[in-house]
Amino acid sequence: MSPKVQDKIPYTRPSITDLETNYATDAAANGWGERCYDYIYKFENRFKDYVGTSFAISTSSCTGALHMGMKALGIGPGDEVILADTNWIATVSPVVHLGAQPVFVDIEEESWCLDPIQVENAITKRTKAIIAVHLYGNLADMSKLLSISKKYNLYLIEDAAEAIGSVYLGKKAGCIGIFGAFSFHGTKTITTGEGGALVTNDSNLYEKVLTLSNHGRSKFQKKQFWADNVGYKYKMSNIQAAIGLAQLERIEDLVARKREILSQYKNYLSNFSGLTFNYERTSCINGAWMPTVVFDDYLNINRDSLAHAFAEQNIDARVFFWPLSSLPMFTSQRNNINSWSIPERAINLPSFHDISEEQIMRSVNCIRHLFNQTK
Ligand SMILES: Cc1ncc(COP(=O)(O)O)c(C=O)c1O
Repeated sequence: MSPKVQDKIPYTRPSITDLETNYATDAAANGWGERCYDYIYKFENRFKDYVGTSFAISTSSCTGALHMGMKALGIGPGDEVILADTNWIATVSPVVHLGAQPVFVDIEEESWCLDPIQVENAITKRTKAIIAVHLYGNLADMSKLLSISKKYNLYLIEDAAEAIGSVYLGKKAGCIGIFGAFSFHGTKTITTGEGGALVTNDSNLYEKVLTLSNHGRSKFQKKQFWADNVGYKYKMSNIQAAIGLAQLERIEDLVARKREILSQYKNYLSNFSGLTFNYERTSCINGAWMPTVVFDDYLNINRDSLAHAFAEQNIDARVFFWPLSSLPMFTSQRNNINSWSIPERAINLPSFHDISEEQIMRSVNCIRHLFNQTK
């Protein structure tokens, strides 16, 4: 008799309650005509209050927010933008679309985020901006990056797509740089299906992005259907914002649960040495969007053996992001040692809000089994 196939464990799944469906239903039934922006305004207000910025603009995605933010800063041909080599493609694609040159530097071994020393070494006369990605909820070293950006007069941008709920020395991720960008894709801690937000304290930048996000039509323009420049259509819908508002009302609970899941994985695997989980800087909070484990080199547990072991148990664990410089459209930079080495021996663990203890144990046992095999 073949062994019973166990239920599939997804790696993420949103937590949708009656609150989300009630708001979405209300938006679908009533959010038209004069009320077509009601939930959008409520969501943006609540979001800026949550992050602690003066302004928030909801967008169709984080990628769109990054694209408009960088466009508004004037980033374009001839400019270089420094970012971490290990990353999701969405951080670099707007840089390329704007005609600027991405410069990939290595990540820190502990935080998996930009290494400030490498950043400073990569600065040239053409450098215009640094994008700090807070990978998997881990925070980049914002104090050092901020002082580098001031020293060389560069923009420091925060890609906080994965870092809602992370707090750097009392400040929420996303509110420290010139602007921050968030993702509300269905895999994120809060979701609107697809969606994102740009947050900033800079009123000038806010007005520019607002105009760009509305096909170049300024809110001060009195003429109907008049565009002052060519913009974008990267807006969030009222129905999406309704779901987002409900999620925001539950944010403390959603983030707390992510942190709880990460600490459960850590506890259950605490007897094993050679494992590194998401890093929490001193006096900071890791929002723990994606509990991830990296195996020390000597253990010989690699991406393929991990993917195979989890797939065999019907668990949808995911591989760590590839180095961007390993993708075919870029030039490979193997000198970015950590960026090339860490993804080879790491895995993202399932972490959705309603994951059960038994489901967590299935992933834990998968890792324990791999350890036993290496003995
Ligand atoms: C680091 C990072 N940046 C940007 C994005 C893009 O977000 P979106 O899919 O909302 O455009 C993601 C999405 O997963 C991400 O992880």
